[in-house]
Amino acid sequence: MSKHVYRTLSKRLLHHIPRQYKDDCLNSMMVHLQETNLWQEADTVALTIPRNNELNIEEIIKAAWKSGKQVAIPKCFPKKNHHMEFYLYTNKKELENVYLDLYEPKDHREKIVDKDFIDLIIVPGLLFDPQGYRIGYGGGYYDRYLVDYPNSTVSLAMEEQIVQYIPFDENDIPVDFIITEDRMIHCEIERKKSS
Ligand SMILES: Nc1ncnc2c1ncn2[C@@H]1O[C@H](COP(=O)(O)OP(=O)(O)O)[C@@H](O)[C@H]1O
Ligand SMILES: [Mg+2]
Repeated sequence: MSKHVYRTLSKRLLHHIPRQYKDDCLNSMMVHLQETNLWQEADTVALTIPRNNELNIEEIIKAAWKSGKQVAIPKCFPKKNHHMEFYLYTNKKELENVYLDLYEPKDHREKIVDKDFIDLIIVPGLLFDPQGYRIGYGGGYYDRYLVDYPNSTVSLAMEEQIVQYIPFDENDIPVDFIITEDRMIHCEIERKKSS
């Protein structure tokens, strides 16, 4: 199956999972995430404002702020070679609705956060495999950004979003960890096992 087919099917899957179930899963994921050194040692956490069908990770933003962390959120530049930058986020008023249910920071250049300043990126995705490969929304923004990103990445996914294998190409950058409602997957170890 091509990535496109995975993308279409997983969007449909997310659409059909009830909001209450997603919220319950997210609560468990947050407990797991907050127990990790990844989270505890991160001063700056980057994450994407969720869309309607996704896990409502706004709760994580609140938890980060509460524990004194800086939060950075991405802005995508479709006309600039699918470039993406993260902006410091301190207040909902800094958001703008850029497309349908997609919210991004307003383009205040002084708020751009340097890549090596981000300790942990929570990478969004529709579908994952245990090796950390993912199906995103198809823009390849994260693959481009992560090429020279030096620190840690984690994705949060429901068990329903994990499949055995996802096709990948030379541009796809796998995440370091995946946290589900049931477990934490160490993707590097999984990649070693399967190589
Ligand atoms: N570092 C990169 N340089 C150039 N093109 C890239 C890079 N990363 C991804 N792409 C391209 O972006 C497009 C979307 O990538 P894909 O992996 O399908 O989407 P996503 O990661 O959003 O699911 C593909 O054509 C891919 O080859
Ligand atoms: Mg990709």
